[in-house]
Amino acid sequence: MCGIIGYIGDRRAQDVLIKGLSRLEYRGYDSAGIVTLKDNKLCLVKKQGKLRALIEELKNNPLEGTLGIGHTRWATHGVPSDTNAHPHLDCSGKIAVVHNGIIENYLELKKALSKKGHKFVSETDTEIIAHLIEKFYKGDIEEAVLKAVKLLKGSYAIAVIHKNEPDKLVGARCDSPLIIGLGKSENFLASDVPAVLDYTDTVIYLENHEVIGLTKDSIRIRDLSGRVIRKKPTKIKWDIAQAEKGGYDHFMLKEIFEQAHILKNILEERLNNSGIVFEELKIKTSDLRRVKRIAIVACGTAYHAGLTGKYMLEEYAGLPSWVDTSSEFRYRNPIVDKDTLVVIVSQSGETADSLAALREARKRGSKVLGICNVLGSSIAREADGVIYTHAGPEIAVASTKAYTAQLAILYLFTLYLAGIRKTVSPGKLGLLIREFKKMPALMGELLDEYKSEYNILAAYAQEFKRYYLQKHNKSCFLYLARNINYPNALEGALKLKEISYLSAEGYPAGEMKHGPIALIDENPWVVCIVTRSKTYDKMLSNIQEVKARGGIVIAITTEGDKTILHYNINYLIEIPKTEELFSPLLVVIPLQLLAYYVAREFGCDIDQPRNLAKSVTVE
Ligand code: F6R
Repeated sequence: MCGIIGYIGDRRAQDVLIKGLSRLEYRGYDSAGIVTLKDNKLCLVKKQGKLRALIEELKNNPLEGTLGIGHTRWATHGVPSDTNAHPHLDCSGKIAVVHNGIIENYLELKKALSKKGHKFVSETDTEIIAHLIEKFYKGDIEEAVLKAVKLLKGSYAIAVIHKNEPDKLVGARCDSPLIIGLGKSENFLASDVPAVLDYTDTVIYLENHEVIGLTKDSIRIRDLSGRVIRKKPTKIKWDIAQAEKGGYDHFMLKEIFEQAHILKNILEERLNNSGIVFEELKIKTSDLRRVKRIAIVACGTAYHAGLTGKYMLEEYAGLPSWVDTSSEFRYRNPIVDKDTLVVIVSQSGETADSLAALREARKRGSKVLGICNVLGSSIAREADGVIYTHAGPEIAVASTKAYTAQLAILYLFTLYLAGIRKTVSPGKLGLLIREFKKMPALMGELLDEYKSEYNILAAYAQEFKRYYLQKHNKSCFLYLARNINYPNALEGALKLKEISYLSAEGYPAGEMKHGPIALIDENPWVVCIVTRSKTYDKMLSNIQEVKARGGIVIAITTEGDKTILHYNINYLIEIPKTEELFSPLLVVIPLQLLAYYVAREFGCDIDQPRNLAKSVTVE
C-alpha cells in the first residue's frame, strides 16, 4: 500500500526515482509524484493516475538534481487526485515528505497545527507530517523528523528532504516497511528491495521507531531517544531479472510459469540426506514436539494456502488445526496459548492484520512461526521462527507463485512435524517425500501444455466471453471442490474476481444443497475440481446436480479418467496423476491461467487490478 523511494548521490535523481517507482507500482497505482532538489529549489511534479501519467508529465518538464524522493499511492485519506498525490509540502514549501501508512491521530494533530496557523491543501493524513516537521525545524532536518515522529500514532514509513539541506535524505519507520540501499557514493531509501536492485544488492532492513539520516557517503540510524544503532547490511540474492517481465506480457503470466522452477528449488534447498531442513527456523524441535494444536492465520491467497495446510497437518501430523483470517483472529478472543503453535502465512510479511494477529498470539504465550516470502519483513522478524518461501519477488498483484511456494513449505513442515512427532512411519514418510519430489517435473509438464498462445484455457476464456455477451452479461463463475482441493476452489474464484472483476464464488461442493444450488440456472459456469480422490464419486454427483439445472461445467480431472467422459462435461481440463495430497499444486495451475485468460479477454489491467495493492499495510 503505497511505495516510497528516496535517492541521494551523483545520478539524476528523477531517473532513479522513476525506475524505483516502476518497481514499487504494485504497492499502489492511483497517483504518483516526485520531488527533487536543484539549486536550492524543490522541484515537484505529481499526477493522478498510473506512473505513466507522471512519466508523460516529466517528458515536458524533466527535473534535475541529485537528491529526491518519490511516491506511488494507494489512496486511504482523500480521493486519488493531483493534490492528494505525494510528495506533500509544509507551509513554507521547504520540506517535502512521502509516506506509506496511516496516521491515526492526524485529525487531532491537524487541528492543533491549524490553530498555530498551518494551512493544509490536501485531504491526506500525510500532509500533517510535513507541517509537524516544519514546527520542529531548527536548521537540522534529521532532528526535526526525530521530534515529529514521536507524536505520530499509526503506521508510517517516510522519506523527507529539506530545501536548505542538499546533502541530507531522512527517513523513519513504524509498522510500514523501509529499507536502506547502500551504494558507492550514493544511498537509497525504499519500501521494498526491488526498487533499489538496479543499483545495489546490499540493503539494511529498518526496524520500528528508527530514524535514518543519509548522505551520499554515510548512514546514521538512531532510535527515538537519539541513540545511534549499528546494523549489519544484508546481501540480496534476487537478481533484477526476477523483477522484470522477461518477455511475458504480464508479470502474472511470468510468475505462473516460474512455479515449477521455484518448487524444484524449494525441494532442493529443503531436502537433503538427513531429511527436511529449515535452517532459519529458530523454534526448537523440543518445542514443536510439545505443541498440542496449530492455528494458521493469514489473509487472501495466503489464507487459502493455510486452509490447505489444515488438511495436511490434521492428516499427517495428527494435530488439531484451524485456520483464521487475520482480521477476524485479531479482534476475537482467540483461544491460543503456550500449547498452540500459531503459523502466520504471508507473502509480503507486512500485511497489517497478519502482523497484528502475530503480536496478539505472542501476547497470549503462543510460539509463532512465520511463513514469508520477503526476507527481513516485519512478520519474519517478529515471529519466533520463520521459514522463507524463497519464491523471488512477486510483482503481479494477484498472487500465484507465492501461493504454490507457501503450499510447498506447508507440505514440508507437515512432513517434518510428522517425522519428529512420529505420527507417520519412516517408511510412509519416505514414500511421501519421494512422491513430493516428482511434483516439480509434473508441474513443469502441465505448464508446458499451456505455453502456446492458443492453448485450451485461452480458448475456453474466449468461449466464456462470447457466452457472457450473448447472455447480456448475466453469467458468473462458481468453483466447487471437496477436501484438500476445496481451498483451491476459493483460490480459483479469488483469482478470477480480482483480475477480471467478474462475480465468482468458491464453495465446498457438499454445501451446494444448503443454499448455493439456488444460484444455478443456465447462466453460471461451474468449475468442478474432480480429480481422483476419496471424494471423487461425491463430486460426480455434484456435477450431475449442476448439469441437471443447466449449469455449464468446466471439469478439472486426472489425466486418463474415462468415467468423467460419461458426464456430458462442457469443458475438460486434465492434470497429471499424482497423490491426492499433492494434487492442489497441480490443480491450481489451470485455475490461475483460466483467470488470467478471462481477464485478458475482457481487456482488464491484469497486473494492477483496480482498487487493489499488493502489500496491505493498512487495516
Ligand atoms: C490475492 C492476493 C491477496 C494476498 C493477501 C495477503 O491474489 O494477493 O489476497 O494474498 O493480501 O497478502 P500477504 O500474503 O502478503 O500477507
